[in-house]
Amino acid sequence: MNTHETISTFLDFYREHGHEISPSQSLLPPHGDDSVLFTTSGMHHLTPHLLGRPHPLGRRLSSVQRCLRTTDLDEVGDPTHLTVFEMLGSWSLGDYGGGQSLRWGHRLLREGFGLPPESLYVTVFGGDDQTGPDVESLHTWQDLGVPVELLGKDNWWSNGPTGPCGPDSEIFVWTGSGVPRDTPSTNPDWVEVWNHVMMRFERLPDGSLVPLPRLSVDTGMGLERLLTVLQGKDSVYETDVFEPWQQTVPTLWPLDTREHRVVVDHLRSGIVVIGDGVQPSNTGRGYVLRRLLRRVLTILWSGNHPLLDELPLDLYIHTLDHFGQSQTGTGTGIGTRTDTSTSVTPENIRHVILDEQRRFLQMLDRGHKVLSRRPRGQVLDGPTLRFLHETHGLPPEIVEVLSL
Ligand code: ALA
Repeated sequence: MNTHETISTFLDFYREHGHEISPSQSLLPPHGDDSVLFTTSGMHHLTPHLLGRPHPLGRRLSSVQRCLRTTDLDEVGDPTHLTVFEMLGSWSLGDYGGGQSLRWGHRLLREGFGLPPESLYVTVFGGDDQTGPDVESLHTWQDLGVPVELLGKDNWWSNGPTGPCGPDSEIFVWTGSGVPRDTPSTNPDWVEVWNHVMMRFERLPDGSLVPLPRLSVDTGMGLERLLTVLQGKDSVYETDVFEPWQQTVPTLWPLDTREHRVVVDHLRSGIVVIGDGVQPSNTGRGYVLRRLLRRVLTILWSGNHPLLDELPLDLYIHTLDHFGQSQTGTGTGIGTRTDTSTSVTPENIRHVILDEQRRFLQMLDRGHKVLSRRPRGQVLDGPTLRFLHETHGLPPEIVEVLSL
């Protein structure tokens, strides 16, 4: 099943079960919401509705939402983590309960996506000192004949220190060789693909939990992880989402597997982030973007590879089109643009990236001069790195590259 078929299968299933398709939103949280830098989950833009405000599209929703988790940045390069990824989501806003959500999820995985029963394992919240175990989810899975592992805080979900939250049930798929064995918490070959959160509480700033006026359900499934399973691949990078990148990048730069993945991920993510209106800077979102681009430039520069002038416009076009950000592209029809602050064309985005490359090269040049003048034997310890950053504007990561 390719990406398009996978997304359609998901959305069609929920449409057939009375859900309205909610358009994809930007990676930037809604105006006035400064709780996170980027949209980290499909539910983010729905937070007020999970807390009780009626939604104009009704009480059953589904969507495909691009997300960015800065907490995952260090893991990018392994087989399952991406900086920007897409989440297939479904919501009951005070409508059906958690058991129904799990039963539909199970049917979709089994009948819609054809996953064999033995390839599934789930985890359920086993209770803690504030709330009891999630008995309804446990019984639902037992009825469905799916093996369950009861866990603690790993099965409690919230999008931040305050706001809607609750116990969750995570669905894992076996990705190892041979007969599935062990449990999700004891064998990393069980990969989490789908999370169903029973939104029962609101956490207040003092840490206390208040029951929500109505129970909602928030689910999120990682599209690229699901594709990895459905397409029988070893990593998200080998799924058809990345096809044009996989064909082109090795012809430009001979990199080892991890470097290759980081370069592909960070460039693609950089394009999407700029497409949502972010410019490189030294603070906030702009700094996240700058770090992504600098990490790519550092890999290429350290390996004596050609730099980003080589990146064909086709990859910019493909990425913007996939995420529905292109002003001219047709997109998937789901990723509707929601802000019009910047003119999003592949050429403009390339210009931003090449401008950042120019600054990076200027900084290397300056750094080279500064470092060659430093006293013999000076150790690059914390205070020296701070001095170089504050006085000469040389970030530690650049100093590190130059002193290799
Ligand atoms: N909001 C839940 C998550 O992101 C579904 O895992």
